[in-house]
Amino acid sequence: MYKLNQQEILKMLEEKVERMVEQIGDKSPHVARADGVYDDMRHSWWTSGFWPGSLWVMHDMTGNEKFKDAAMDWDEKLQVCLSEHPSGLDHDVGFQFLLTAVIKHEILENESSFGIGLQAANYLAGRFNPVGKFIRAWNGDKLGWAIIDCMMNLSLLFWASRVTGDPRYKQIATLHADTVLKYGVREDGTTCHILSFDPETGEFIESIGGQGNAPDSAWSRGNAWAVYGFANTYRHTGDIRYLNAAKRVAHHFIAGLPEDHVPYWDFRVNSVKGEPRDSSAAAIAASGLLEIADSVPSNEKRLYADAATNILASLTENYATWDQPEHHGILVGGTGHKPANENINVSLIYGDYYYIEAIAKLNGWERRIF
Ligand code: GLY
Repeated sequence: MYKLNQQEILKMLEEKVERMVEQIGDKSPHVARADGVYDDMRHSWWTSGFWPGSLWVMHDMTGNEKFKDAAMDWDEKLQVCLSEHPSGLDHDVGFQFLLTAVIKHEILENESSFGIGLQAANYLAGRFNPVGKFIRAWNGDKLGWAIIDCMMNLSLLFWASRVTGDPRYKQIATLHADTVLKYGVREDGTTCHILSFDPETGEFIESIGGQGNAPDSAWSRGNAWAVYGFANTYRHTGDIRYLNAAKRVAHHFIAGLPEDHVPYWDFRVNSVKGEPRDSSAAAIAASGLLEIADSVPSNEKRLYADAATNILASLTENYATWDQPEHHGILVGGTGHKPANENINVSLIYGDYYYIEAIAKLNGWERRIF
């Protein structure tokens, strides 16, 4: 069995992220391929918060000022996208601004970051379809699509209600969560990626496979978003239906893990032979499972906490780049979009972020941004 010493891993992470600060510089990383070099993605892309977020969590855990300095101006850089037209932003402003403006405000009590976070929350609330009761995903002609990933963006709305006292943000968040719970979480604890509604009447039309294998499959990262997103929605509302949903999805996720505790990119493929893993799904689920472990009665904790530590131990031993100092990524073995044949077996900045976040939680980090 794996042996984990959380403090040692945190120390290794501090050294690794210090090197990444030099290697990544001002870039907005998304994917690193076999050469180990992180790319530089546009700031409006959904992943732009994860590198600054990694820096803020590492700063919060270690007090290392280099991390704070490198994270400092990312909220202002991303704010430019909020005022651009067309901005390129979408439902994922939660990921982007929670990990830049909101976390900076929480740590430094910075007033301008507070304003940027609220601007982003207003943008997200403005995407709500009141007839269908969902937050619209993406842009273009798909006016009636909602996706499982967006469960994670709800934390921006819960934050906005908490800091302003205005309940409308959290009302939108819970209405969206109810819609996803009704149409997106199956009896067996699996979820599909995309839900399609008529944007005029709000009528549910169909499930769509999206980044998963099929409309009735179980895309592993989508299921990880659901584990974590419903656990968060429970933490923010106290409504037990959301915790039960998170547990249901978690049970399927844990049951479907292969021997090394890191899922294939979809739990339902004809044969796993030759199919890639997704280390990012593993890292997201681990951090979400730790949230469930914190929410359930003490006699239930072990299932979720053990599953999280098994996943993290495997990521640490089998997927991390400790012995490749020139590699910019922390984890290899991520899969971005298998059906589109994009970004397979790569490092993904969100996999790195959730690995850092989960290790921070195991080292006693108590701040919650999602
Ligand atoms: N939120 C997009 C993805 O998980 O790939």
